[in-house]
Amino acid sequence: MSTWVAEVRRHFPSLNLKVNGYPAAFFDGPGGTQVPEAVLEAMRSYFLEANANTHGAFLTSRRTDAMLEEARATVATFLGAHPHEIAFGANMTTLNYALSRALGRLLNPGDKILITDMDHEANRGPWLALAEKGVEVLRAPIRRETVTLDEEAFWQLLDEKPRVVAVGWASNAVGSIPDLPRLLKKAREVGAITVVDAVHYAPHYPIDVKELGCDFLLCSAYKFFGPHVGILYGREAIFRELPTYKLRPQEEAIPYRIETGTLNHEGIWGTQAAIRWIASLSGREGSLREQLRAAMEAIARHEEALFGVLWRELMGMADIRLYGPGPDARRTPTLAFTHARYTPAEVAARLAEKGLFIWDGDFYATTLVEELGLKEGGGLCRIGLAPYNTMDEVDRLLQAIREL
Ligand SMILES: Cc1ncc(COP(=O)(O)O)c(C=O)c1O
Repeated sequence: MSTWVAEVRRHFPSLNLKVNGYPAAFFDGPGGTQVPEAVLEAMRSYFLEANANTHGAFLTSRRTDAMLEEARATVATFLGAHPHEIAFGANMTTLNYALSRALGRLLNPGDKILITDMDHEANRGPWLALAEKGVEVLRAPIRRETVTLDEEAFWQLLDEKPRVVAVGWASNAVGSIPDLPRLLKKAREVGAITVVDAVHYAPHYPIDVKELGCDFLLCSAYKFFGPHVGILYGREAIFRELPTYKLRPQEEAIPYRIETGTLNHEGIWGTQAAIRWIASLSGREGSLREQLRAAMEAIARHEEALFGVLWRELMGMADIRLYGPGPDARRTPTLAFTHARYTPAEVAARLAEKGLFIWDGDFYATTLVEELGLKEGGGLCRIGLAPYNTMDEVDRLLQAIREL
């Protein structure tokens, strides 16, 4: 095991789990990552020293206010945004529904929205729901051979001048990444409001919302070593005008206007700890943002090395069919496959007996799996890599798949 990964693993107490005498190997990152001690400690300290509701005159409430604002600033640094452009919620799906309901108030029957068939349903369902108002939902198709977004079709659908464009930055099922800067540039040219699902992208690559030029971007802290908290970035100029559904006493100002009810304070405090923990992997001085960039590069290097081995070895197995672009493409280290003789559920169950945790099914990328014709057969097997995975674990996984 390299010293880098050994040092990373030292921070994750949950990695010590055993299954039938085997050490657990967590290849389920795209469904949610493990959590480092620093995050657990932050959540514990919130409960011990600051547990209260917001805006009270007393110590714990004041601490809560200060911690929420500090967490907002940290998440803003993570995404390259301003703190008042960062809203928290239960999860990405719930925030995206709040966003679609609000944007829906600005749309008229006959207006168009563009979504994709690559995306997780969380970036489709909230927009499809607006069809009830007479909004027309356009769907950019996938390219089946490569399991990537059909960018040319997407490009052409932009000629229909959709008012909203909702697109994912990385597929949580097969790891493919579209050329989003190019697509968003054209979306802006036709005057669309752009919404990016960065849930699967955020754990693997640094994000700069200003450079990307999107209006809204969503991600989820539990996919990058944090607790179950959803995050919404809204570009100030447009977020300010967003007619959200809110309670009368709730603040009008951004970002509070979309944050309904009491938030998950301990989770939000844990989220900033997760981001600081990622930054600590850089092992160097500098601003938080510089550290984050260097740390994400180190994570990507590690994950890419493991991914290359996984891909090549699985490619050589006669019973295995791989989906999505190969290791030379810009992609996340998320590998989808099917087995010629076993269903995905059977494969996952057999591997689980040996402590190898992989996902099976459609992972809510339901339309993609249907388009690939895999729904009836139980979808896909999905292996996700995280910085705490080791080459030994990859070897164990490959051996167990060979032995199926
Ligand atoms: C790409 C993608 N988008 C959206 C979601 C939904 O996120 P949440 O569970 O925070 O609602 C997921 C969750 O798996 C995802 O992978």
